[in-house]
Amino acid sequence: MPAEKPSIKSFPIASRLRDGRALALDVWSVFNATNLPSDCINLGQGYMNFAPPPWAREAAEQALRSVEGNHYSPPKGRLRLRKALKEFYSPQFGRELDPESEIVVTSGANEGQYAAWTAFLEQGDEVIIFEPFFDQYLPSIVFNGGKPVYVPLHPSTEGTPGAEFGKKTWNIDFDELKRAITPRTKMIVLNTPHNPVGKVFTRDELERVAQLAETHDLIVMSDEVYESLVFDGREHVRFATLPGMWERTITVGSAGKLFAATGWRVGWLIGPPALMGPTSAATTRIVFCTNSPMQEAVAAGFEQARERGFFETQLREYVERRAVLVDAFERLGLEYAWPEGSYFILLNISRVRWPEDYTFPATLDGRGRDFKAAWFIANEVGVSSIPVSEFYCEEHVSIGENYARFAFCKDLDTLRRAAERLQRLRDFLV
Ligand SMILES: Cc1ncc(COP(=O)(O)O)c(C=O)c1O
Repeated sequence: MPAEKPSIKSFPIASRLRDGRALALDVWSVFNATNLPSDCINLGQGYMNFAPPPWAREAAEQALRSVEGNHYSPPKGRLRLRKALKEFYSPQFGRELDPESEIVVTSGANEGQYAAWTAFLEQGDEVIIFEPFFDQYLPSIVFNGGKPVYVPLHPSTEGTPGAEFGKKTWNIDFDELKRAITPRTKMIVLNTPHNPVGKVFTRDELERVAQLAETHDLIVMSDEVYESLVFDGREHVRFATLPGMWERTITVGSAGKLFAATGWRVGWLIGPPALMGPTSAATTRIVFCTNSPMQEAVAAGFEQARERGFFETQLREYVERRAVLVDAFERLGLEYAWPEGSYFILLNISRVRWPEDYTFPATLDGRGRDFKAAWFIANEVGVSSIPVSEFYCEEHVSIGENYARFAFCKDLDTLRRAAERLQRLRDFLV
């Protein structure tokens, strides 16, 4: 008798997973190292191939050796960390931050943002996000009943002085932004320095956004996770410090970016009690609290960063890393977005051509041209990147299709090897 097949029962999946693009094969899975040649240099996903500072790690080890360091923390964060955040940020915000009511520690910036949307979105509330956007925004907004409204940044045509092929980073069309605001708009999400464009928004641009936020009574989520990576003496303007903006701004930070520790999953939100109270209540129900040993590590990180000159050294290192990739793209003669901040460079890959009979995996079917270009570059040149159309809504995919994102949060040796390999692209340019 043939063996009876086990029945495979399925259950209806909540529509928020579909609408939030959570079921689609995401770009990280398509360009996962296991799908690429084993010696491919990974400049795709934005995590470092170097360790966080040992003196911060030491604090986590100490916490693990203690009893209390292995147990729950207060839901809004360990007092040591909230105090360290207060000391670090109060001068930058130009006010004495209250660690009890104005700072919430979260499980990465991502969870903090999710909690803020849980706290403030009603079904159908609109949230404006600029494209290209950090891809987690979309599911997080949709899961919380919100409706993302997309406003694309427009690639600049101006060159950056001293860089033949580097373009000044992308711009907001303010008329487009105004048209996107409706009576249902609840929030606007800013990201400066910007992933993946590398743009640092100017004071003037942010003041114009602030005027709109005031006029339409919007909450502003200012995602500043790349705050420590602002190059060439540019000013990092904290949106919350603009006149009248403190009371309507949630500022987002991440230890992952500040201390090269993306796996620690520690982030924080800063804002007025009216915004932090409900967000803290939401985060308590989502994760209850953030893991204790890594909060200790981040606290130590902040406590010692100044005397060790940590952020200054880190910035210099990133300037060197940026130079390696910029030089590679200049030598190739390909246009790229000049990174004013963050650790990403967008390369214009519209001139890359592959043989007509080149075969691509089925996972790329129906995806933008950039998916094919990035796949081809990873397989034939040996450097992986991330296609940028993933960071656009369907209607605007054609803008993103011309770009691939390369991350320079890697050690110099890796970047130099990648830069040499990238020169091989010359054979595939039109
Ligand atoms: C713009 C932006 N916001 C938020 C995050 C999430 O940060 P975390 O790893 O702390 O959750 C990232 C991570 O890549 C990011 O690029």
